[in-house]
Amino acid sequence: MSMQVVQSIVDARSVCRLQKCQGNNVGLVPTMGFLHEGHMSLVRRARSDNDFLVVSIFVNPTQFSPSEDFGTYPRNFEQDRRLLVDEGVDLIFCPSTEEMYCSGSSTFIEVTGQLTANLCAVSRPHFFRGVASVVAKLFNIINPHRAYFGRKDAQQLAVIKRMVQDLNFDIEIVPVPIVRDFDGLAKSSRNAYLNPDQRKSSTVLFRALQHAEMLIIDGERNSSRILAEMERMIQATEYTRIDYTNIVCASSFEPQGYINSEVLIAAAVWVASTRLIDNIQIDPDNLTP
Ligand code: PAJ
Repeated sequence: MSMQVVQSIVDARSVCRLQKCQGNNVGLVPTMGFLHEGHMSLVRRARSDNDFLVVSIFVNPTQFSPSEDFGTYPRNFEQDRRLLVDEGVDLIFCPSTEEMYCSGSSTFIEVTGQLTANLCAVSRPHFFRGVASVVAKLFNIINPHRAYFGRKDAQQLAVIKRMVQDLNFDIEIVPVPIVRDFDGLAKSSRNAYLNPDQRKSSTVLFRALQHAEMLIIDGERNSSRILAEMERMIQATEYTRIDYTNIVCASSFEPQGYINSEVLIAAAVWVASTRLIDNIQIDPDNLTP
């Protein structure tokens, strides 16, 4: 069957409803497009798990603040379309902003509490409200059995899981591991902003996380000592400015002064005018040096 591309909510809903009526499992991979190997690993995993696979491409304005890069966020629909045809995707849902947010749209989903108290929520205060709202809308339109999210955006994944649980969406959330470039930099659409010198500097983000992991493997359990070493490494690298480094409980996202259970070591770093995020999850009781 050839791939369909639909822009309208009514069409997307009716195509997916028909598939479900026919007894097919529907998978959804939400994206903002400008697809790379990180997105493609979600697509491949979803392709093998489901009968009918939907990929949404929508640069969601409500998750950008006015000072952020909504206007310049990279877009290349034709390239995305070709990549998705090659993976055997069944449907691309690519609505316009007006289609997704009809005039007068005034309803938002907000995941409150510890999950949105730290990390990206501090420098991007409206981000998770925008993400949760648009993902809830996509879930209501597509009504998938499963939806796929990358661990690169670990806090986003936790927020979506929480929302699904709290609002009783009957959808399985499938986490997918981080895909990295040859030198460790996590794949991201925003890597396209980096010039060659900035691209070199950007590797410090993952190197700092790996250094933190090594310290934990060597027995260090004091978070502030680990964070201080990470920050020293990042600060010594040209073009960088730290947004945050933190060590939080992998499930509650509560900052951990002392590491005695599974933690997420997370960092956000500006490289010139590009903000990059990355993380490593590590369980001190289950270390494989
Ligand atoms: P976007 O940044 O396009 O990412 C879409 C999905 O791809 C997210 O689940 C993200 O975690 C995953 N992803 C991106 N880079 C990855 C990598 N290197 N390895 C593994 N997975 C990766 O995240 C969004 O869009 C938006 O916030 C969205 C959820 C679509 C809501 O607008």
